[in-house]
Amino acid sequence: MTSQMPNPSYPEPVPSSEPRVASEFVYRLGDETNFAAVQPLWEKLRNFHASLPWCFAAEVRRSSFESRKQELLAKSVGGKLRIELVSTSPEAADIAYCISSVSAARAGEVDSLFIDERFRGRGIGGELLRRALAWLDSAGAISKSVSVAHANKEAIALYEHFGFRPRSMILQQPLDGT
Ligand SMILES: CC(C)(COP(=O)(O)OP(=O)(O)OC[C@H]1O[C@@H](n2cnc3c(N)ncnc32)[C@H](O)[C@@H]1OP(=O)(O)O)[C@@H](O)C(=O)NCCC(=O)NCCS
Repeated sequence: MTSQMPNPSYPEPVPSSEPRVASEFVYRLGDETNFAAVQPLWEKLRNFHASLPWCFAAEVRRSSFESRKQELLAKSVGGKLRIELVSTSPEAADIAYCISSVSAARAGEVDSLFIDERFRGRGIGGELLRRALAWLDSAGAISKSVSVAHANKEAIALYEHFGFRPRSMILQQPLDGT
């Protein structure tokens, strides 16, 4: 007998009006003036990191967009910052973003990448990463790195798929002593 209950492990069917593959989405390139558009998505990324099974969850939950923004702005002084946003159409709300930067010392970094849960697995993350890496090369980066939460195994696999390899590991004491 077939069950009438939806299977939560199956992705929701894509409504026919929505883009289906990465190339059908709208990519909008920006700079530090686009931080306001990033905020709601960054807050979802923060909540995602706070939901990971690791001892930094409480600390992450308390982090603010404003402090992350200031950190990125300070880091790119004398260098360059790039923000790319993605939506389903020019009028629609953004569903993904990628921030990358080149420091004054020409160190390139993919700083932040997030795809709304409903739109994962359609190649958007890969497309944003490819574009960010091409920009880092064209902006004169002499190295390319990404800092990933140790508990974020999926993202680590994604970056390894793009040729990134673990180089060093930062061990940190959680502020709340857990
Ligand atoms: C990680 C994340 C950005 C991936 O985005 P996505 O749009 O679902 O990924 P894509 O469909 O574009 O897949 C990208 C590529 O990585 C590969 N890939 C994706 N997940 C993978 C995995 N777990 N293992 C190996 N390869 C993987 C895909 O095969 C694809 O390769 P291709 O471009 O050669 O076809 C997305 O899941 C996300 O936003 N996660 C939550 C936030 C997060 O973890 N951000 C990173 C913080 S550093």
